[in-house]
Amino acid sequence: MDFDALWAELAPIGRYAGTGGYRRFSWTVADAECRAWFTERATGLGLDVRADRNGNLWAWWGDPAAGDAVATGSHLDSVPDGGAFDGPLGVVTALAAVGRLRESGARPRRPVAVVAFVEEEGARFGVPCLGSRLLTGAIGPEWSGGLRDADGVSWAEAYAAAGGEPEAMGADPELLGRLGTFVELHVEQGRGLVERGAAVGVASSIWPHGRWRMDFSGAADHAGTTRLADRRDPMLPFASTVLAAREEAAIAGAVATVGKVFVEPNGTNAIPSAVHAWLDARAPDEAALEATVAGVLGAARRYAAKERVEFAESRESYTGEVEFETGLRDRLSLLLGGAPILGTGAGHDAGVLSAHVPTAMLFVRNPTGISHSPAEHAETADRHAGVAALTRVLEELACA
Ligand code: GLV
Ligand code: MN
Ligand code: MN
Repeated sequence: MDFDALWAELAPIGRYAGTGGYRRFSWTVADAECRAWFTERATGLGLDVRADRNGNLWAWWGDPAAGDAVATGSHLDSVPDGGAFDGPLGVVTALAAVGRLRESGARPRRPVAVVAFVEEEGARFGVPCLGSRLLTGAIGPEWSGGLRDADGVSWAEAYAAAGGEPEAMGADPELLGRLGTFVELHVEQGRGLVERGAAVGVASSIWPHGRWRMDFSGAADHAGTTRLADRRDPMLPFASTVLAAREEAAIAGAVATVGKVFVEPNGTNAIPSAVHAWLDARAPDEAALEATVAGVLGAARRYAAKERVEFAESRESYTGEVEFETGLRDRLSLLLGGAPILGTGAGHDAGVLSAHVPTAMLFVRNPTGISHSPAEHAETADRHAGVAALTRVLEELACA
């Protein structure tokens, strides 16, 4: 099957008609359908599909035990009401590229694998790139097993309910040791390629980034009868902290976002008892990131104290600055006719893998730059340019 046919098959899975966005959260029905689709299509291509001990799916062409494999792929999960491209473009392009190579009679001298990583977005359990972090040992099974979704279901419980073995989770040096190169193709989440007039680019780096949980606890009371002076309203320091995040980010040349909030008990006519919120912060370097986060959390503590509200914070994930290997990056850029080289503020499994395996990323042009939104897009001609580029890369790395 060619790219368009594969893309059309995957498109309806997990799509929420109310917004047109995707809700493909790990270990849900939509996720199971995506995984079943991947398994069926990869098997149909003649690949040998196996889930690793952390639930990531690997489709092998050639014997994995031979080692020095060339792996490519991305993820199938989404953010709430995400676009169609973030993740799936890399997986579908990988299947299409491998299909093309097999049809052309290519005979790889290195094993080739197509991978679909689990929980890349961290939308359900909070930690992004969880599948690749578990694989590399960047996060331990004890910690990941304790991660819980909004309903209190743990990662281990959800994984077990989906047929996984939580006892087997953890670093997998054997599998990691079999990988010689990893290349992730991804829709660009900015307008760098539009500005450069190119359909495909090569990644240079990923900004350091992380997530911090902030809990403001006050006292629930009546909205009509409680005097302002008597209130311990957690919404007030929370609101001031959101504004502080914007200010601190602007000062440091960073970005900071509060996109997820739970209010308890969430009643119109009650002062909230608690506000739970998440700060996502990213910056061009680690010092700027540290300054931004210190500024925001410091402001949160001060505003909370002023309102007699309790405040607790915890860092839920952190990824330091990623510089992709320059030799591989330049080689791929040259191979693709001088494809532009550009950085990104978005996180990727490739960033996690890059600490262990020579890793590169290809970006496909996004006409608006919009991502993590139903409006995310790549033109058909650019999707095809991505397939051609990845096919060329796999041919060069695995077959030449
Ligand atoms: C993943 O897409 C991220 O950058 O949050
Ligand atoms: Mn994403
Ligand atoms: Mn992604």
